[in-house]
Amino acid sequence: KTVTYDFNVSWVQANPDGLLERKVVGINGQWPLPVIEVDKGDQLVVNMYNGLGDKNASIHFHGMYQNTTSNMDGANMASQCPIGPGSSFTYNFTVNQNGTYWYHCHTDFCYPDGYRQALIVHDDDAYFADEYDEEFTVTISDWYHDLVEDISFLSLYNPSGAEPIPSAFLFNDTMNSNLAVEPGKTYLIRLINIGAFVGQFFYIEDHTFKIVEIDGVYTEPTEADTLYIAVAQRYAILVTTKNSTDKNYPIVTIADSDLLDDIPSDLRLNNTNWLEYNSNAVHSEAVIIYDVSSDIVPFDDITLIPADHMELLPEPDFEINLTVSMNNLRNGNGYAFLNDVSYVAPKVPTLYSVMSAGTLADNATVYGEYTHPMVLKHNDVVQLVLNNADSGSHPFHLHGHNFQVIDRAPAYGAHFYDYLAGDPVPYDPSNHTAFPAIPARRDTFVLPPQGYYVIRFVADNPGVWMFHCHIDWHLSQGLAMVMIEAPNKIQETHHIPDQAYEVCKAAGVKYEGN
Ligand code: C2O
Repeated sequence: KTVTYDFNVSWVQANPDGLLERKVVGINGQWPLPVIEVDKGDQLVVNMYNGLGDKNASIHFHGMYQNTTSNMDGANMASQCPIGPGSSFTYNFTVNQNGTYWYHCHTDFCYPDGYRQALIVHDDDAYFADEYDEEFTVTISDWYHDLVEDISFLSLYNPSGAEPIPSAFLFNDTMNSNLAVEPGKTYLIRLINIGAFVGQFFYIEDHTFKIVEIDGVYTEPTEADTLYIAVAQRYAILVTTKNSTDKNYPIVTIADSDLLDDIPSDLRLNNTNWLEYNSNAVHSEAVIIYDVSSDIVPFDDITLIPADHMELLPEPDFEINLTVSMNNLRNGNGYAFLNDVSYVAPKVPTLYSVMSAGTLADNATVYGEYTHPMVLKHNDVVQLVLNNADSGSHPFHLHGHNFQVIDRAPAYGAHFYDYLAGDPVPYDPSNHTAFPAIPARRDTFVLPPQGYYVIRFVADNPGVWMFHCHIDWHLSQGLAMVMIEAPNKIQETHHIPDQAYEVCKAAGVKYEGN
């Protein structure tokens, strides 16, 4: 079936933390934004009109593979031009996957102003479909009182490049809310960090749960009690309620203070919401037993076994080695690097350059040095080694794919990638205690501070895909690159609709070669 949404995007007023009313990006005059809900196999059509008046926008459907529809990926100047004020664009693609996703604006600095929400692909055939009675979607996020454009981030006023400190942390775009439950039932809770910066810990007092999905990948049911959810990551968990209704249990979220350079005394890092068994019973605040968030030991995602048991991919045909470095101030602009390249958006969307480059399309130089282009061959097994010379962790996301987790520096001890010392370790569950027999898969991973991470995927999805840090501040500093996957196949399978060129023209982007 076809599911259609009409999104008229405009500024509205909202006061999600009860502390300050501000303008936020609304849809059809509303905020929180509508959750997109579809079934696998549906055609999803989103007619977007940019009524903001003063700001570009787009929609990226985070985690959607966009097979044969890279032009619907919404990534500014990678797969389309920014949709300027007064312009419209229709997103239209087939949803061929299940699970928990989200959508967000993907032009410079627009999703921290509220343009982000859950996208759920329902699945009556999920292996756990009969094991729960009801479901909830829970978003968590950081929140700023200032409009992004009023924050002096990329400026000489912020010479260290310190990320702006959020004003609050939200739970379903509000605070102190309830998930009303009944005793003796099982609930599927879909958790999504739709924030722009800060990862958060999550637990429910006196309850354990079973993880059944990460980032759209069903996993073997796995018992856990505490999660770490970086921005852009998702988990689906099954929670079975107790048999009595005498009390409500805090659902606790704790912001990762390691990411914050400076914590104002009035910033609440811990929030209590409730698994509400009885609306008449007391709703007591959680008692937090941790002094600092680094004392919390969350469930280790790399031990999650995908339910489909997809085997370890063979040795790579192509290896990409990258190092993250930060804080090299250059006139207040672009100071995050992957191998000394700080991403700068091209003048023409990279996808459109593929379409017009003819037989030169597999030559990376066509795409310009500062997009950090990497051309991938169709069906190659690609291994990406990401090394971190920075002292902060970075949640990295690859568009168009999920990937196998092949290696990672020990999570809680700094270990810089050392090729000579034998890093990365070849995937071998028999000599690496954390590795399960089958490698975990997801679409967003956390690169540890001064550590490394290794992923592997098959280049079987022709398209232009960004790979970037999902901290929106870091993306704006250039912590990104672009993969041009199977350019000849892109030319065969893709068609850029006329409307997309109209959007470019309206945004003042000159396009040649149509
Ligand atoms: Cu959530 Cu580039 O994406």
